Amino acid sequence: MRTKIVAGNWKMNKNLQETEELLAELSAKLPDTDADIIVAPTFVNLQAAKEALQDSKIQVAAQNMHFAENGAYTGEISADMLLALGVDTVIIGHSERRAYFGEDDALLSKKVRTAVEKGLKVIFCFGEELEDRKSDKHFTVVENQLKNALFDLDASAWSKIVLAYEPVWAIGTGETASPEQAQEMHAFIRKTIADGFNSSIAEDVSILYGGSVKPANASEIFSKPDVDGGLIGGASLKATDFSEIIKAI
Ligand code: G3H
Repeated sequence: MRTKIVAGNWKMNKNLQETEELLAELSAKLPDTDADIIVAPTFVNLQAAKEALQDSKIQVAAQNMHFAENGAYTGEISADMLLALGVDTVIIGHSERRAYFGEDDALLSKKVRTAVEKGLKVIFCFGEELEDRKSDKHFTVVENQLKNALFDLDASAWSKIVLAYEPVWAIGTGETASPEQAQEMHAFIRKTIADGFNSSIAEDVSILYGGSVKPANASEIFSKPDVDGGLIGGASLKATDFSEIIKAI
């Protein structure tokens, strides 16, 4: 049985007070679920989130990290710094990191490797842009993103990897991939992992869908056999919406 996961990526939203308020409201509304529930506040609020969620089932993730152990990398955060806060999950490869901060597959490969070596769980994001889909290159783009960043991992590393397929054209746009489009791509991703590693790794890896998931469309997307949950942006910033999405898993 694959782990079901609903993760909220808060991006650059919520100051300290707002973080504490949202977590209190979310904790109060949290539905009973077997799924893993994760929130990813901004770096400066990770410690407060960990404290607020001490006795909670909600886990805390970081939105990014640097690949180096430590050193002269002004403004960056290391894996050890996250682990010292008790944060054991990190999002790597989000399309906003790729688009606005120039993170390419080679860099992401280094980040994933460091994270896994340090024992962090990685939510690895990838997905095609609109032009790729229009020109029917979406499968090739996704396959290359996976191969370039993940295929040099040892098979044992996969117990630490969660995949998050996020078509860039669906992020924050209100336009969602149809449940059929999501299923088609998730099945392709699983086959790509089976071909590159083995079918047991492919069957065990959780693949999340991200891109304008909201209470109104979550159930249908999550009902697809290869969709194991969601990485939620905008709708994770409202406790009511996020808890409705959790109910849908
Ligand atoms: O990390 C989350 C994704 O970028 C999805 O964001 O739900 O606001 O479209 P969104």
